[in-house]
Amino acid sequence: MKIHCLFPALPVFCLVVGLVASPTVTAADVPLVVPAESTIPAGPEGDAIRLGRQLMNDTRKQLPRNVGNGLNCSSCHIAGGTQANAGPYVGLTALFPMYNARDGRVISLQTRINDCFERSMNGHPLAWDAKEMNAMLMYIRWLSTGVPVGSQVAGRGMGQVDPSLKPDRARGATIYVAKCASCHGLQGAGTPDGSGGYVFPPVWGKQSYNTGAGMARTETAAAFIKSKMPMGQPDSLSDQDAIDVADYVAHQPRPVFAGGKPDAQAKRR
Ligand code: HEC
Ligand code: HEC
Repeated sequence: MKIHCLFPALPVFCLVVGLVASPTVTAADVPLVVPAESTIPAGPEGDAIRLGRQLMNDTRKQLPRNVGNGLNCSSCHIAGGTQANAGPYVGLTALFPMYNARDGRVISLQTRINDCFERSMNGHPLAWDAKEMNAMLMYIRWLSTGVPVGSQVAGRGMGQVDPSLKPDRARGATIYVAKCASCHGLQGAGTPDGSGGYVFPPVWGKQSYNTGAGMARTETAAAFIKSKMPMGQPDSLSDQDAIDVADYVAHQPRPVFAGGKPDAQAKRR
């Protein structure tokens, strides 16, 4: 079989990847490599890739009918989904559509994106054939350049903390005040930018993700917080600190997820 190697200059590495990946390529980790800007093609394809990136980074303003809170995709998928342990989009077109054991069904990348629109963005799904959906897919496809089908990049998802630790929410409140409130506010409402958006996004309350979001689960939030927060000081919290503060944040008031019920008021694109 042909091994698609991301680092042709490192034949030993390629060989190892090849051995691990052979004969059937199943979720072997490959390095997270963000393609060079210069590889964005000219013409309509490049326009779609750039639009997709803009929609990820400026979602609230660009898609007001689909976003129901103060967040952008990149509030959690940091830097347009290019960073390890912050929900990178790199490599996702090599994995989706995929069978999801928890859901017991095959889910497409469109479904997964709309899941975040309905939960993390507390909003409404995009139509599958909307220009904006296709632009996001094109951006993710471009980011996935060179990742072999069936492989996942190292750092996919939100990272990990020791799952055996028990959260102490009261301790988490103290950590929040000391290490998070300066940016996200004592009331979790974020720091507004004066034009309807946020310099630092809300972590609870009306403008934050809803109860159905992955970030509303202590373990997921703990992993993300440990990997990425406080902003500028990644990996500075212990696993216990991250779990405690995540448990505090995850259990603050936030919009309640409607449970996937069709919303008569929803304006679909
Ligand atoms: C409040 C945080 C948050 C926001 C905002 C958010 N997401 Fe997510 N997203 C998550 C979490 C958490 C996961 C699950 C990661 C995991 O499985 O560990 C996820 C998963 C995903 C995945 C699947 C990733 C994978 O590795 O399988 C895609 C695609 C995705 N989100 C797209 C989007 C898009 C597009 C937007 C904006 C419309 C968005 N997300 C907004 C938190 C967020
Ligand atoms: C220096 C400012 C700063 C500090 C301090 C900080 N954050 Fe953040 N946080 C950010 C920024 C900025 C983002 C959005 C990332 C982006 O847009 O690139 C973010 C995103 C988040 C998110 C996901 C998006 C959302 O709004 O829910 C969570 C959860 C979060 N931070 C939790 C925390 C926790 C918990 C702490 C304390 C341990 C913390 N942050 C400390 C700046 C900060």
